[in-house]
Amino acid sequence: MATKKIALLDGDGIGPEIMTEAVKVLNLVAERNAIEFDLVHGAFGASAYFDHGHSFPDATKALCDEADAILKGPIGLSHEESKKIPVDMQPERGALLPLRRRYNTFANFRPVFLPKGLAHFSPLKPEIIGDGIDLIIIRELVGGLYFGNKESGVNDAGLRYVKETLEYDEEQIARIARVAFETSMKRKKVLHNIHKSNVLKSSVLWNEVLEEVGRDFPEVKIVHILVDAAATYLCLNPGQFDVMVMENMFGDILSDQGGGILGSLGLMPSACIGPDKAYYEPSHGSAPDIAGKNIANPYSMIGSVAMMLEMSFAMDQEARNVWHAMQSVFAQGYSTPDLSKPGSGVKMIDTSGFGDLVVEQLRKQPVA
Ligand code: NAD
Ligand code: IPM
Ligand code: MN
Repeated sequence: MATKKIALLDGDGIGPEIMTEAVKVLNLVAERNAIEFDLVHGAFGASAYFDHGHSFPDATKALCDEADAILKGPIGLSHEESKKIPVDMQPERGALLPLRRRYNTFANFRPVFLPKGLAHFSPLKPEIIGDGIDLIIIRELVGGLYFGNKESGVNDAGLRYVKETLEYDEEQIARIARVAFETSMKRKKVLHNIHKSNVLKSSVLWNEVLEEVGRDFPEVKIVHILVDAAATYLCLNPGQFDVMVMENMFGDILSDQGGGILGSLGLMPSACIGPDKAYYEPSHGSAPDIAGKNIANPYSMIGSVAMMLEMSFAMDQEARNVWHAMQSVFAQGYSTPDLSKPGSGVKMIDTSGFGDLVVEQLRKQPVA
């Protein structure tokens, strides 16, 4: 029987709570399939900083290096709590960006999906949602402003200043463009390229290279949209989008808006794929406002498991089963607190309640 080692990085805030539910699903998947998961927890994030003096300790690096895939919970503290950690050691700069850099996970897949039957979770009107929301944001994850040179200090006029560089070379653009075209070929063959070429020279090069790569995919229609307008269209007419591709920071912001049109960031899983290693994480943060209350929605974390099953372990049918199990829990009238107001007629369930029901549903699905 194949054994896959998975590094589990619980993270901060709601991270450990939603990881517990993901592990329930992983254990059941192993029970049902000819596969064994060697699940090993590693310290990562602000909790690792306080416990081990570093938010991405060497032992965790070693664990991730030898793992077949990495499942990561959200990291980070509230704005106030963050100040207890020196800026460069804070888990975003000290752990998450180094994790992305270490494995060159340049392709970030952020599906924004809500079937028609669950449209009541969305803040959008039913006539805008139509047959449901089904698009995928492909975000470049290891370039741009996040990874460019940074400098700060006091300038000649005696003023404090900061300078951050938005840098891309043509190879970085071409490889993410290729991923986007390949994804479009498997879907509706329409690719929305999100850019800001009316101002940013980086977008001018981005668009140029994307069109060059597009020559290898003549069946895919490219639609160029400025990022500011795209933000509006996501609310007013999300149905026009299928695959959207964009640089790092645009993708950060628009993918959270994706969570907004679904009704909660708790519905946003993601996959971060590099040439040799992939890691999987919810798109959202550690939600300090609800941490420790067993009310976080673990869909994002379990959905990240489903993406891992498909993209790292080629278990496509079991991945579909996991999605189906989660959606059928909601379809039975259950809701986590992020998606519905109390008294709105739903059967409210908590974090562990959702995980248990997903496991119950998954048991009913035929094994591939
Ligand atoms: P957040 O995504 O943690 O929370 C925004 C809102 O969404 C909050 O109201 C929160 O309760 C809600 N929410 C998020 N996930 C949810 C879930 N699964 N179920 C129910 N509700 C959910 O954003 P924030 O508050 O701006 O950031 C908190 C911390 O998270 C910061 O330190 C930030 O840097 C970090 N962060 C980490 C990641 C990551 O690890 N990839 C991503 C984003 C933010
Ligand atoms: C995300 C997060 C991260 C990002 C932060 C925490 C560094 O917001 O994964 O979306 O901006 O990439
Ligand atoms: Mn983000």
